[in-house]
Amino acid sequence: TITPIRKICCIGAGYVGGPTMAMIAKQCPDIEVRVVDINATRIAQWNSDTLPIYEPGLHEIVMESRGRNLHFTCEVDSAIAEADMIFISVNTPTKDFGVGAGRAANLEFIEKCARKIADVSTGHKIVVEKSTLPVRTAEAVKAILSGSSSGATFDVLSNPEFLAEGTAVEDLLSPDRVLIGGESEAAIGALVDVYAHWVPRERLLTTNLWSSELSKLTANAFLAQRVSSINSISALCEATEADVDEVAMAIGTDSRIGPKFLKSSVGFGGSCFQKDILNLVYLCEYFGLPEVAEYWEQVVKMNDYQKRRFVNRIVRTLFNTVSDKKIAIWGFAFKKDTNDTRESAAIYVCRDLLREKAKLSIYDPQVTADQIKKDLQDVLRNGDAELSEASARLIAENVEVVDSVEAACCNAHAIAVLTEWDEFGKVDFPAIYRSMQKPAFVFDGRNVLKSLPLDEYGFVYQGIGFRR
Ligand code: NAD
Ligand code: UGA
Repeated sequence: TITPIRKICCIGAGYVGGPTMAMIAKQCPDIEVRVVDINATRIAQWNSDTLPIYEPGLHEIVMESRGRNLHFTCEVDSAIAEADMIFISVNTPTKDFGVGAGRAANLEFIEKCARKIADVSTGHKIVVEKSTLPVRTAEAVKAILSGSSSGATFDVLSNPEFLAEGTAVEDLLSPDRVLIGGESEAAIGALVDVYAHWVPRERLLTTNLWSSELSKLTANAFLAQRVSSINSISALCEATEADVDEVAMAIGTDSRIGPKFLKSSVGFGGSCFQKDILNLVYLCEYFGLPEVAEYWEQVVKMNDYQKRRFVNRIVRTLFNTVSDKKIAIWGFAFKKDTNDTRESAAIYVCRDLLREKAKLSIYDPQVTADQIKKDLQDVLRNGDAELSEASARLIAENVEVVDSVEAACCNAHAIAVLTEWDEFGKVDFPAIYRSMQKPAFVFDGRNVLKSLPLDEYGFVYQGIGFRR
């Protein structure tokens, strides 16, 4: 028999935990949802008027339920103890030490959650893996939970999240599918009933635990592979006068290929694509499948190549030197409509331009100056404490973060568009042209200015995957 869920606890108030739980609370007024985190600042932000993450539509849905059946709190133990169902939505970054460093997922946060749940639970609970995890993690989670000293019992489900940042609310409201993997029909049914409050039943897919865990890594690998595939073709387009957007359109109308995720760019970013593919690569090696590992690793290599290629093209076009030249950086987030910069291509492009001794003036409508400088500091330091001072000085002397594209462009030799923010298409280009050094170059890493008459205004314009 399926007992309806009355209380949910979600461990991890991040980009996934926050929006996902806000949607459950909105759609299920009969369920009390508590989102907990060990990061007290983050919880305070969720309880304030300025939420810790920027997502279109998120503010409205949080305000609708917060204080009613949606609560953000640091009281982890009591929230777990009182819940019928506990989502684990903590970060699973790439391990940067020990066995599997640089590839394997660091599961210490997952394990700590499982131990915490085992410690404070009584009775029966359903534990849901929401984080993206290597296949067979549920085995470890079950083993840890079975050691609960109170004799509590558990069902473990896998329910990976497929939302994309920038469209999180839309994606949660009408997902293509919700995937639930598990062993117990009753536990699966309980989670199905939660989603069935707003998601049509035919979109609620149920599988075994391992298929569900592996489907998440596979979905991200396939998506990223499409971007790397079209980016590889963009290099060939530049060499041959084919136009990558025309090629993408031409192949995307084949219903077997489909039009989405074929936008050539300066490279994919975000917290997950690279991390999840590297994790997949590690798993393949672990299970003795080096050919499969090598196949997927190429997706990440191609992405690194695309970022490097973009910088090389800037340097080459600017007469082989960017030393002391001001370059305006338009956009720092890894895609539009988010303030997230994790693994953003902008970080690597800026790093390489700084190494070429360029001066950068960076504008992003949502990312704070502190975040930009922290990201650059981290990438320049690359884990080496001894480089802290030198990289801080490099940033202090060569990077400014400004609050408009106009400020970024004044006296600049070139503009590099790194995020596809809508507002970039709407600026006064003739005025910007007048304020810049001549020749004034535009390197469009997103092809968002391609349809504008930039050449007529006087700019030398280059995008990704075509030549004019
Ligand atoms: P995040 O870093 O934004 O949030 C994770 C939160 O968990 C942090 O606030 C951290 O303080 C908290 N946390 C860590 N350990 C904890 C503990 N022991 N107790 C309580 N809180 C703890 O991460 P995210 O972007 O929300 O990603 C979470 C997971 O979801 C990852 O596995 C990721 O791969 C996956 N995912 C992310 C996205 C996305 O768009 N960001 C989409 C789908 C899946
Ligand atoms: C991605 C997936 O789309 C989600 O389904 C998944 O849940 C999520 O990862 C995750 O597991 O974290 P996200 O990274 O938020 O979502 O954003 P995407 O829209 O997938 O974009 C990722 C990167 O690829 C961005 O830098 C984007 O600019 C780039 N991209 C995307 C392209 O360069 N071209 C495209 O055609 C599409």
